[in-house]
Amino acid sequence: MTPKKLWLTLAAVIIGSFAVLCFYGVEIFREMPPFPNKVVTESGETLFEGQDIKDGQNVWQSIGGQTVGSVWGHGAYVAPDWTADYLHRESELMLSELAQKDGKVYAQLAEADKAKYKVLLQEELRKNTFDAQTGVITFSDMRAKVAKQLRNYYAKLFLNDPSMAKLRNAYAMREKSVEAVDGLSAEQRFDKMDAFFAWSSWVCVTNRPNSDVSYTNNWPHDPVIGNIAPTSLHLWSGFSVLLLLFCVGILVYYYAQHKEEHVSKAPETDPMRDLKPTASMRAVLKYIWVVGALMLVQMISGVITAHYGVEGDAFFGLPIQEIFPYAVSRSWHVQLAILWIATSWLATGLYIAPAVSGVEPKYQALGVNVLFGALVFVVAGSLAGQWFGVMQKLGLVENFWFGHQGYEYVELGRLWQILLLTGLVLWLFLMIRALIPALKRKDESRHLLILFVIASLAIAFFYAAGLMYGRQTHMAIAEYWRWWVVHLWVEGFFEVFATVVASFLFCRLGLLKIKSATISVLFSTIVFLAGGILGTFHHLYFSATPTAVLALGATFSAMELVPLVLIGMEAYHNYQLSRSTTWIKSYKWPIYCFIAMCFWNFLGAGIFGFSINPPIALYYLQGLNTTAVHGHAALFGVYGILGIGLMLFVLRGLYPDYEWNNKLIGTAFWCINIGLLLMTVVSILPIGILQAHESITNAYWSARSAEFMQQDFMQTLRWLRIPGDTFVALGEVLLVLFIIGLQFGWSRKGKR
Ligand code: HEM
Ligand SMILES: [Fe+2]
Repeated sequence: MTPKKLWLTLAAVIIGSFAVLCFYGVEIFREMPPFPNKVVTESGETLFEGQDIKDGQNVWQSIGGQTVGSVWGHGAYVAPDWTADYLHRESELMLSELAQKDGKVYAQLAEADKAKYKVLLQEELRKNTFDAQTGVITFSDMRAKVAKQLRNYYAKLFLNDPSMAKLRNAYAMREKSVEAVDGLSAEQRFDKMDAFFAWSSWVCVTNRPNSDVSYTNNWPHDPVIGNIAPTSLHLWSGFSVLLLLFCVGILVYYYAQHKEEHVSKAPETDPMRDLKPTASMRAVLKYIWVVGALMLVQMISGVITAHYGVEGDAFFGLPIQEIFPYAVSRSWHVQLAILWIATSWLATGLYIAPAVSGVEPKYQALGVNVLFGALVFVVAGSLAGQWFGVMQKLGLVENFWFGHQGYEYVELGRLWQILLLTGLVLWLFLMIRALIPALKRKDESRHLLILFVIASLAIAFFYAAGLMYGRQTHMAIAEYWRWWVVHLWVEGFFEVFATVVASFLFCRLGLLKIKSATISVLFSTIVFLAGGILGTFHHLYFSATPTAVLALGATFSAMELVPLVLIGMEAYHNYQLSRSTTWIKSYKWPIYCFIAMCFWNFLGAGIFGFSINPPIALYYLQGLNTTAVHGHAALFGVYGILGIGLMLFVLRGLYPDYEWNNKLIGTAFWCINIGLLLMTVVSILPIGILQAHESITNAYWSARSAEFMQQDFMQTLRWLRIPGDTFVALGEVLLVLFIIGLQFGWSRKGKR
C-alpha cells in the first residue's frame, strides 16, 4: 500500500473507533445503575441518604480509594475488594436471619435445607427494588438489620477498634483510616463511606431491570448470592480467541509480502557523530538526572509497599504505618512510575526536535528550563498532596483539588492534573516549534515526523480525559474516562510513539530505509489502534456497563495481540541492526533496550495481558495478583525500559566523544531485566495462580480474603520477591551511577 492509502486507512480507523467509543460512553451513562435519593426499609425508616452515598465515595477516595483494596475489582491487592467482601458478609448474616425466622440455626442445617435458604437469599438480594419514579431503593427490614450489623463491623475495622488490629495488619491498613475533618467526626464520615460500600455492593448483585444478570455482569463470582458467569462471558471469550487467530493468519500473509528493507550498506561512520548539541539539547541533561532520582524514589516506595504485604504495620519492625502508610507508599510508587517514564520521553522529544531540524529556535533553552521547573513543582506538589489526603488532613473538596483522588494511576489532585496537562502542552509547543523547519522541508522523513507529532499530541491531549469526571461523578462514568487516560495511553498512543521513535532513530543512523520504515510504521500504527482504541472496554467489563461494552472490549482487545505475536521479528531485526557495522557498537545499550522492550511487549503485554483478557478469565481474575504480574511486566518492561533506552540514546549524543563503561551499563541492563523476570515469575505469578484457583473453585471474595492470603505458604511466596526485587533495585542503582559517571568520569572509557 502507498503511504497515502495507509494514512486514509489510519484516519478511518481512528474516526470510526472513537465514534463507537463515544457512542458507548453515552450508553454507559444511560444504563448505569442509579444513585438513589434514599435507601429506605419496608417499614419506612431511612437507611441511607443519596447524598451520603456520594459523600461516602469521596471519603473512600480520601483514604486512598483504589489504593486500599478495591471496589468493582479496580484497585490494590492487599486489602480485600470491599464490594465482594461486603456481599459475602451480608449473605452470611442474611442466611442466619432467614433460618432463624423458621427457628433454625443455619450453620447446623443439612445441605439440602441450606439450599432452600440460599434460594430465598438470592430472591431477596437480586430483586431490583429501585423505583425510578421516586428514586428510592427499598430494603426489607431483615436486610436493613444486616446492613447495620455490617456497618458496625466495618466501623471497627476502619476506626481504631483494638479487636481488629490483626485484620488491619493483614490488610496493611492504618490504625484509624477515617478521621475527623471539616467539622465532621470520624464516625460521621465513616457512616457516609459505609453508605457508599452498601450501594456499590448493591450494584453488583441487583439484577438490571428486565434481566437476570446484575449491573456488573454478575461480578464478583459468588455462587451463594447467585453471581455466576453469564452466558455472554463464555460466548464473547470464545469469539475473541477465534478472532485473534484469524487476524494473526491475515497478518502473517501480509508480512510474507512485505519486508522492511535494510539499507544495502550501512554508512561508514556514525551519521550522528558530528551533531553538536545545542543549548536547549544540553539543558535536557538535568531531566535525565531527575529521572534517575525519581526512579530511585519509586523503587524505594515499591520496596516499602511490597514489604507491607508481609508485615502490614511496619518495615522490619520500624512502625512507619503512621508516617508513610501503605496507601501513600503505593500511590507514590504508581504515580512516580508514570512520572519518570513520562519525563524520560519528554526529555527525548526535547532533545530530538532541534537535532532533527538542525534549528535551535529562539529562547528554546529557556523554555526547556521553565518546563523543568514546572515539572518538578508538579511532582513534589502532587506527592505531598497525596500524603495530606491519606493522613486525613483535607476536607472532601480540598482533597479532590489538592490531595488524593483515589483513582489508580490518576491519584493526583485535580489542580496537579491540570498543571501537568499544562506542562504537557508546553512540551508540545517547545517540540513542535523546533520541528517546524524539518516538517517544512517535505523530504522523505516527513511521514515519520508527522506520525511522531500526532503520537505526541495524543499523549498530551488524552491526559485531558482525566478532567472529564468531577468530584462526585458516578463511578461507572469516572472509570470510563479514567481508562481513556490509562488504556489509551499505554495500549494506544504509547505503542505508536514507541514504534515511531525506534524506527526514526534507526533511520537517522542510516540503518533503515526511510521509505520502507514509513510504510511499516504506518501499518503497525493502524493495527495497534484498530484493536487498541476500542480495547479500552476490556477494563469496563464489570464496571456496571451494558453487555455490548463487554462484547466490544473482548473482541477488539484480542486484536491488540496480533502485532505482539509477531514482535519477535522486530526484536531479531533490531538485533541484526545492532551488529550491522562497527560504529554501531556505541549504540549497543540503547538498541538492547529496544530489543528488551520487544521481549516485554510479547511476554508482559501479550502473554500476561491476554491471560487475563477474555471476559471469562477476567471475571475470576480481575484485581488478583495475576494483574500485578501483567502490570509490572508491561508497564515497567515495555515503557520503563523504552524510557531507559531513550535516555541512553540522548546521553550518547550529549557525551559524543567517549566510549562507555560497558561493564557498568551492561550489568545494570541485565540486572533490571533478569530481576523483573524473577520478580514476576517466581513470586507474584504463583500467588496469582493460587488465587485464581480459589476464585474459580470457591468465590472471588475468598481469593482476596485474609484467611486465604495469610496462609503460611502465601507468606513464603511473598518473601520470594526478595531475589527479583533486589536485582531490579541493584540494576537501577547501577544505572543511575552510570548516568552520573558520564559526567564525572567513571562511565567513560577512552575516546571514540
Ligand atoms: C505495553 C502495553 C501494556 C501496558 C503498559 C499495560 C499496563 C497495564 C496496567 C498498568 C494495568 C493495571 C494493573 C492494575 O490495575 O494494577 C493493566 C490492566 C489490564 N491490562 Fe494491560 N497493559 C498493556 C497491554 C495489555 C494488553 C495487550 C492486554 C490484552 C489484550 C492487556 C490487558 C489488560 C487487562 C485485561 C487489564 C485489567 C486487569 C484488572 O483489572 O485486573 N493489557 N494493564
Ligand atoms: Fe488496557
